[in-house]
Amino acid sequence: MYFGGVDVEELADKYGTPLIVTDENIVRENYRAYVRAFSEFKDEISSVYDVDICYAVKANGSIAILRILAQEGAGADVVSGCELKAAMLAGIPSDKIIFNGNAKTDDELRLAVETGVLLCLDSLDEAEALSEIAHGLQLPSSDQPSSDQPSLPVERERVHVAVRVNPDISVKTHPKIATALKNSKFGIPAADIFNTFRRISLMKLIKLRGIHCHIGSQILDVSVFQEAAEKMLRIASSLQREYDIDFVDIGGGLGIKYSEDDVQPTPHDLADALKAAFRVAKLRRPVKLVLEPGRSIVGNASILLTKVQSVKRTAERNFAAVDAGFNILIRPAMYGAYHEIIPASCMRTDAENNRTDEFEEYTIVGPLCESGDVLGEHRKLPRLKRGEILVIMNVGAYGLSMSSQYNMRPRCAEVLVCNGKTELIRERETFGDLIRHQIIPPRLLKKLHDCSTCMGFND
Ligand code: LLP
Repeated sequence: MYFGGVDVEELADKYGTPLIVTDENIVRENYRAYVRAFSEFKDEISSVYDVDICYAVKANGSIAILRILAQEGAGADVVSGCELKAAMLAGIPSDKIIFNGNAKTDDELRLAVETGVLLCLDSLDEAEALSEIAHGLQLPSSDQPSSDQPSLPVERERVHVAVRVNPDISVKTHPKIATALKNSKFGIPAADIFNTFRRISLMKLIKLRGIHCHIGSQILDVSVFQEAAEKMLRIASSLQREYDIDFVDIGGGLGIKYSEDDVQPTPHDLADALKAAFRVAKLRRPVKLVLEPGRSIVGNASILLTKVQSVKRTAERNFAAVDAGFNILIRPAMYGAYHEIIPASCMRTDAENNRTDEFEEYTIVGPLCESGDVLGEHRKLPRLKRGEILVIMNVGAYGLSMSSQYNMRPRCAEVLVCNGKTELIRERETFGDLIRHQIIPPRLLKKLHDCSTCMGFND
């Protein structure tokens, strides 16, 4: 099997497994599809003066990938101080960064103020904390715009904020990733928005700029984005009576094709749904439209190579145990998510592929000491053997970014492929990385026995 013009079995040999392989061209092409789909938006919709595409760093925060997106001109949606630092390190200008999240710490609020990014407030409590912090800080000066085309023009004497709205939209996706249901922890219910704006408008160092929502993830039916946008634009229009609302952020959420049954919507479909919402909206002044796609930019750009460590045939099931588990890819265990699994060698000859008598049904499991460590069930695959490489598809979004070191398994390496060339973008972690920040209090260091064999491992 080839990915990005590179033989994946050769990659597994050279870099070891588990291994994440990301195709740079797919990332660029996915981002450009958004740019193309939304390029006409402001010409067609007079109430939109600009469109910003702010990639959701949580989907995949590898610095090389952020750098690729920075080169493409993307902005960023970040939800932690470190995501903010990563986006800026990769070269994404601060005026294209939106800081979201529902539990920002004082340090994160301070960092947001110091860097001049747009803060998206999730509660009145947070607004009060921000106001206090802003009083104690010098705000960045307006003399030095951080890019040639500042996309969220800011008046720096005050901290510019949006407020996250919970528009109460039910979406067809896994309940754990539906984020705008009535009982969701995110945002402020639409009914409380006016009161919240009134309270925040009294805070001298905060300037209210817009509203934000994010209704969920892996959404395949774009009509819910239209429904959400219509609600948001009604709110924006009413708010514009009293406030300078000049941007509306509709969040991310566009789904991708994981299984044969999925019909993947395109950024064009999303643009059409949003245009329909703007056409019926009665805004009093033009706004910037902000989008925060994550999965649809990186989801299909990466594969995970994993090696079969054992094949076990029981009366109940055939198990293929591989060296990647939910420590590397938690989506199947957490959401019952489907990821296609293909043997890397199954592409060898068509004749071999067609020998259905050699196919068996497998449960593909990881190495972790948890029964839930299952990557795929009922998978019909050619007879597997130890040492074989399996390819898990579409792991670019919420793969490594949700990984852990559970069972003391170091995180895997990551390579970037592009037109047949390969570059390492993340080294495999080592035992040393696992214990780097741990401390044995000196009082516990009293010699137990001859430790020369048990201490001193670093790899
Ligand atoms: N903006 C906000 C405020 C978000 O919370 C999210 C995702 C996004 C944008 C990007 O959404 P996307 O375009 O990627 O759907 N771990 C789950 C997905 C959680 C999504 C959380 N928020 C999964 O693996 O399916």
